[in-house]
Amino acid sequence: MPEEKTFRSGVVPGRWPLIGHAWPLFKAPFAFLASLPQHGDLVEMRLGPTPVHVPTHPELLRRTLVDDRTFDKGGTYYDRAREMAGNGVATCTHQDHRRQRRLLQPAFAEPQLARYATVMEQQIAALTDSWGAERSFEAYPVLYGLALRIVTRTLFSTLVDEAVTDEIRHSFDVVFGNFFRQMFLPRAVNRLPLPGNRRHRAALALLRAAVERVIAESRKDEDDGNVLAALLAAHEAEGAAVVDAELRDHVVTVLAAGSETVASTLTWALYLLSEHPEVQHALQQEADARLVGPLAVWDEVPELPLTHRVITETIRLYPPGWLFTRVTATATELAGRRLAPGTTIVITPVPVHRNPAVFARPDAFDPDRWLPARAAALPRGAFAGFGAGARKCIGDAYGVGECALALASVARRWTVATVPVPDVRPVPLAAFYRPRRLFLRVKRRSAS
Ligand code: HEM
Repeated sequence: MPEEKTFRSGVVPGRWPLIGHAWPLFKAPFAFLASLPQHGDLVEMRLGPTPVHVPTHPELLRRTLVDDRTFDKGGTYYDRAREMAGNGVATCTHQDHRRQRRLLQPAFAEPQLARYATVMEQQIAALTDSWGAERSFEAYPVLYGLALRIVTRTLFSTLVDEAVTDEIRHSFDVVFGNFFRQMFLPRAVNRLPLPGNRRHRAALALLRAAVERVIAESRKDEDDGNVLAALLAAHEAEGAAVVDAELRDHVVTVLAAGSETVASTLTWALYLLSEHPEVQHALQQEADARLVGPLAVWDEVPELPLTHRVITETIRLYPPGWLFTRVTATATELAGRRLAPGTTIVITPVPVHRNPAVFARPDAFDPDRWLPARAAALPRGAFAGFGAGARKCIGDAYGVGECALALASVARRWTVATVPVPDVRPVPLAAFYRPRRLFLRVKRRSAS
């Protein structure tokens, strides 16, 4: 790794008036982000009208993630996210974070995860049973439905009905659909009474109302195997009053952070497997050898090393959280550049994950690069799919476990193919990276 003084900083050329670098980010985001290291280890560009700095070197990316006191949550992404999730654990500043995280942590401890796994297993069984011998479907909406039903039912209780899930889904569609567009526009434009802005605000109000209703219902529920119950117990143990608005922020945060991320990972994983039959075959062999029943169960998840490597490699290639922001809380220096307080930093794993100096053949799908001996040779900070430091994803084991259950269960009984012709260019400015059009065909394996 270079010494501090040898880190290079630079400026990204090709900036447009007013919209900055929004055009390449809109048109071919990963190609653009992957090209950034040629301009420096820390590069300056424009996110719409806002000047931002982007660490493209693994060590600098790691530092900005780990030093969450200096590089605090804020900037254009988290300003938008706060409108939705208030002061929840993902959006709050450093000052409130340790308390928020302490309260939420027990809900993500291993014994709780094992309880949520029952919901995951049931939902995966319901989906795959509906396939019969063969089925074609559009991947993302189906897998998003699966992930949202799982996170809703593990959050509140298994009793949450389909109508509530639909309401939440509709709100997220509008809010996340607008998210990045709003990031590239001046704040004043987002406040105008335009139809898009009105729809955005209405969707936020609907989301809050749906969540508040379910919280009120769930408080009466005796079942304690859910996130909300664990959260209430953590507040009680601390002797803290449970304010409904605070609970709502936690709940919206977990719903938002735990659905599209998993749906996107599963979508890309199944796409990559369909494009790489040799890896799919190896995954089927692993499932055949390790699963006792027709579907995977939670206890079997640690016994599926190739499935885990496929998930990590999928997130390396297509990190669902592909671009978010921080803001400097104090004056600081990075790569020899002085950054004034209030400077926006863009956090994106793409320039590191797709850099040939970090990963050999960075665009190739090679799950075995995560075999322990090969992974140990990677530089520190090479993988940032879940963030790092105190703000690292709290749901990583939940999300990976859910993906592993789904992928191993599919591999055990089905062969997945892409129905021609997919359009795997990303949905423009989607908050979570996903393909525009991807239909999959699942066909029951003869031996299953
Ligand atoms: C494969 C799936 C997932 C991926 C790739 C992912 C990725 C991430 C990333 C990159 C961050 C850090 C954001 C930042 O530093 O600004 C994060 C934070 C977070 N994630 Fe995930 N996530 C996934 C699944 C989940 C799930 C399933 C949940 C909950 C059920 C969840 C809940 C959270 C929360 C609450 C935070 C904020 C943590 C904090 O600031 O303390 N995530 N996630």
